[in-house]
Amino acid sequence: MSLATNLGGSFTLPNTSLPLKRIGYGAMQLAGPNVMGAPRDVDAAVAVLREAIALGINHIDTSDFYGPHITNQIIRQALHPYPEDLVIVTKVGARRPEDGSWVPAMSRQELTDAVHDNLRNLGLDAIDVVNLRLMGDGHGTSEGSLAEPLTILADLKQQGLIRHLGLSNVTPTQLAEAQTIAEIVCVQNQYNVAHREDDAFIDDLTQQGIAYVPFFPLGGFTPLQSSVLESTAKSLNATPMQVALAWLLQRSPNILLIPGTSSIEHLRQNVKAAALQLPQQTVADLNALAAKPLANRLS
Ligand SMILES: NC(=O)c1ccc[n+]([C@@H]2O[C@H](COP(=O)([O-])OP(=O)(O)OC[C@H]3O[C@@H](n4cnc5c(N)ncnc54)[C@H](OP(=O)(O)O)[C@@H]3O)[C@@H](O)[C@H]2O)c1
Repeated sequence: MSLATNLGGSFTLPNTSLPLKRIGYGAMQLAGPNVMGAPRDVDAAVAVLREAIALGINHIDTSDFYGPHITNQIIRQALHPYPEDLVIVTKVGARRPEDGSWVPAMSRQELTDAVHDNLRNLGLDAIDVVNLRLMGDGHGTSEGSLAEPLTILADLKQQGLIRHLGLSNVTPTQLAEAQTIAEIVCVQNQYNVAHREDDAFIDDLTQQGIAYVPFFPLGGFTPLQSSVLESTAKSLNATPMQVALAWLLQRSPNILLIPGTSSIEHLRQNVKAAALQLPQQTVADLNALAAKPLANRLS
């Protein structure tokens, strides 16, 4: 595979003029251990971001609660003034106390401060997309109204601080409620070849023309490991992570990838996943992974 790829083509967020390349970049891995503090090597983090842009990536996912503040400050250091077509997507709804935990932060004051923190640390007058990140039970998804916090973000959008709104860690019911309050251009939930609880949700979002942005596309803190991925990768002369990303690209045209990495080498490998065509049988084998009981999927 050559390094030149079209990044999986592009997908335009609904009712926007923001065509996002389908391979983007997730910046969470740029902070220190446990997403707290500075990375060991800030210059290396800057180099990864610049390489992402050099490779044609125009979609960076971040949050001011990575670090906190530090990841956004590194993005600004590396890329400001930003390329014209770069879309920075952030998320609000949590804060990070000194012990490194993740705590819901949904009051008017907290959400307003979070948007201003993102603006200041990224060096922007308005943010392209802000995702409201819900903090359900154990911080996974759980039902419950999002009207109050989303209305606050809609007010901030009205004030011109936010251009478009998205949601993260939500259910279809919560999306439906959100759509009575504001237009939603993207949903960012956990999903990958082994964790496919959102399959029906994705099909619905495809119909609606809303972007679906899987977080932990490579398994996140516990990277995907599977004999099926290994053998498929070997047969295609690729890496297991490239196969996992190619599977997502082939899953649905509204899926946008934001794999996270602190390594230039991994970034280049991830971009090359767009050049990988998975044969039908491979897709079927990978689909069978999700049919296994959860405990047996990653073996
Ligand atoms: N909305 C939410 O609640 C939420 C939650 C989590 C994350 N996110 C967003 O989603 C993005 C992606 O999630 P993530 O970064 O947590 O997890 P991920 O993309 O699934 O996986 C990242 C892990 O995979 C490794 N990796 C990346 N490319 C690799 C490659 N080619 N070969 C081998 N290992 C590779 C990384 O290590 P190296 O650094 O060594 O490459 C890192 O350990 C984040 O960066 C963040 O922007 C959102």
